[in-house]
Amino acid sequence: MGDASIPSFKAADLVIQLSSAPKTKLDVFAFGTVFTDHMLIIEWSFSGGWEPPLIKPLENLSLHPACSALHYGIQLFEGLKAYRGDDNRLRLFRPMLNMNRMAKSARRACLPAFDQSELLECIRQLVEIDQDWVPHSDSVSLYIRPTFISAESSLGVKKPTRALLYVILCQAGSYFNNETQAVSLWANPKYTRAWKGGTGDCKMGGNYGGTLFAQHEAVEYGCQQVLWLHGEDHQITEAGTMNIFLHWINEDGEEELATPLLDGMVLPGVTRQSVLELTRKWAEFKVAERYLTMGQLCSALKQQRLKEVFGSGTACMICPIGQIVYQGENLHIPSQDKNSRLTSRIAQELTDIQYGRTPSDWTILV
Ligand code: COI
Repeated sequence: MGDASIPSFKAADLVIQLSSAPKTKLDVFAFGTVFTDHMLIIEWSFSGGWEPPLIKPLENLSLHPACSALHYGIQLFEGLKAYRGDDNRLRLFRPMLNMNRMAKSARRACLPAFDQSELLECIRQLVEIDQDWVPHSDSVSLYIRPTFISAESSLGVKKPTRALLYVILCQAGSYFNNETQAVSLWANPKYTRAWKGGTGDCKMGGNYGGTLFAQHEAVEYGCQQVLWLHGEDHQITEAGTMNIFLHWINEDGEEELATPLLDGMVLPGVTRQSVLELTRKWAEFKVAERYLTMGQLCSALKQQRLKEVFGSGTACMICPIGQIVYQGENLHIPSQDKNSRLTSRIAQELTDIQYGRTPSDWTILV
């Protein structure tokens, strides 16, 4: 199954220690708050390589206070979901894309390589063990959080000689309080999320921790999320923790679904990629990855060319955007005025795939 050229742990060596006291499952689906009974953990050291993977009851980590993941943010994570379909089977949605992105983030963070298929098989077994935590509901899923941290216990800023890869699972309802309602964005060009040559295209914790101050300002001004801009022409990059899409009649008079191009500042989201592939397959309008600015968005809005704006991400899925506060103006985005036709169509088609109603090679059975 795996790639023998990469020194890696093997799923065949997995050791499983089942919990003797499984927790009572509550109907609490607030994102990221209720964790399942087990975790996967795999240790690595420069001298010994990868240890055999271990699934064990979920417990706290024990880290040296000098651990460089805590001091310098040498860490990364992923987010993917398992869905219980109408047929009662659990499915993972395009998990190899997450494994692939995780391997790329690890390379950028100077954490060791691993075999992506072997990790996926370990995760599959973890989800299988905790499968009773996933109810059948279109609004609930199991969020899978692979995490990879330096376990170096020294204050030197250097490539880790010890690392921990672990995976935890939690119940996931809607990420925002009410997913059917459009969210509002605060666009203050004094903040930027990422920059050319940085790590904005990797899933590293620092890309998120560094956003809290601006996020807090957004809430203070009555918005839910930040619209991340970059540079002098206020280039549109991301929205909150999501990729962003504009559905409009573009400057050339063509109907277009546009999203910022992957220029190193934008996270290559799995949902982003899926929206692009899905809508390109429809072949009903132009689908573009392009440079987008606030100037273009404002002109389109003024000339009534802007139809819908939405965010995409694993946690939030597809999320309509109804308002952008920018340079003292409250821009009303007509995303929900006509019942978000494209937004809801995309959301429905993706949900049908994730829950197994539409057969697709985008899902794998657990
Ligand atoms: C995801 O959509 O999976 C994310 O990573 C968002 C997360 C930071 C809550």
